[in-house]
Amino acid sequence: MSGPNQPSGTRICDRCEALARCSEEPEALTRVFLSAEQRKADELTRAWMREAGMSARQDQIGNVVGRYEGAARHAPCLMLGSHLDTVRNAGKYDGMLGVVAAIECVSVLHGRGARFPFAIEVVGFADEEGVRFGAALIGSRAVAGTFDLGLLESRDAQGVSMREALVRYGLDPACVGNAARRKGDVLAYAELHIEQGPVLEAEGLPVGVVTAINGASRYTVDIDGLAGHAGTVPMKLRQDALAAAAECALAIESRCSREPDLVGTVGRIEAAPGATNVIPGFARFTIDVRAPHDEQRRAAAADIESTIASICCRRNVKVRVRQTHEGRTAVCAAWLQDQIGQAIAAQGLPVRRLPSGAGHDGMAMIDLVDIGMLFVRCAGGISHNPLEAISPGDAELAARVFLRFIENFRPAPGRR
Ligand code: HGY
Ligand code: MN
Ligand code: MN
Repeated sequence: MSGPNQPSGTRICDRCEALARCSEEPEALTRVFLSAEQRKADELTRAWMREAGMSARQDQIGNVVGRYEGAARHAPCLMLGSHLDTVRNAGKYDGMLGVVAAIECVSVLHGRGARFPFAIEVVGFADEEGVRFGAALIGSRAVAGTFDLGLLESRDAQGVSMREALVRYGLDPACVGNAARRKGDVLAYAELHIEQGPVLEAEGLPVGVVTAINGASRYTVDIDGLAGHAGTVPMKLRQDALAAAAECALAIESRCSREPDLVGTVGRIEAAPGATNVIPGFARFTIDVRAPHDEQRRAAAADIESTIASICCRRNVKVRVRQTHEGRTAVCAAWLQDQIGQAIAAQGLPVRRLPSGAGHDGMAMIDLVDIGMLFVRCAGGISHNPLEAISPGDAELAARVFLRFIENFRPAPGRR
């Protein structure tokens, strides 16, 4: 049972539910970068931050940033957080749990009047998934100072550029660089996140320490064939863009099935003109390739690109492969793994260390500061799906571990 000075799993889950109501669809959860739904979710989050004794602001890329001052003002901070954007038809906890649980921990510390030699900041990143513009980790890259300004010209499915979307949102594209933090300002970045996989549940463990976040490469592939009459063009004379894309998708699946821990996904495929009786003249599909080791991932990606080229050459269709995202494998710092592990052990729980197959903002934040992650069990390991679920009990336990980590946080040896 959580008293006033303990995190409440019920309140954490209720707040994830409240955020889930900020969606572009009435019956599903979809909240993309710089949307009206993001604005609603950010307002809610800033209000919770202020209730927890934090100042709360929006930075120049649209992240929400809460700050709980240390014993001395302007102290460097322990940065906590996760993302507030979602995939399409998402679950309620991927990202949001980490932001809400961190606020819950600060709220408990504020209730106790606790102050530390460091400040605590909680960041709700504006775009980790990259659903709207294709490139992922936008908010965290801006904070880390590695945001690629060329991305301002990328366009969404309606043809709106990121630059224009920022202006419509009330932000100045010329100022996105000001979201970057100085290395001296941040002591560490730590994120609480659902595992999005089955390992903890299968082993009967509520929490685990993340050892590394697997790297990822994403591509968009355009295939130009020749639209034609479905009834008159003989099969061997066709330049069928969708059939070529389909063969590429199966080749990607086959290549990525050959090695343990390597995964490849074609998440989206579309064809035009999209009539039953017309041979598709155009097809577009996406590729997502991941592996624990960067050279393994890059070798698979190179094989995939050359296989796509030979399939399209044989089928006499033109192909353009565009890389839209690359995130290197991000190793969680041993000293942070140890401090998170000690917080788990203090709850009398076994300390299970495991890698993350899913990507996280830590892949960007590692360019600014050492990173650590605490994983929470989720039902069936299901994620990126409305069936995503955690128990209030696990939310509370994970928040207690996270709170213990915060209270006992010591900067890296040599950092003060
Ligand atoms: O795609 C991922 O792994 C993360 O959920 N953005
Ligand atoms: Mn996700
Ligand atoms: Mn996530």
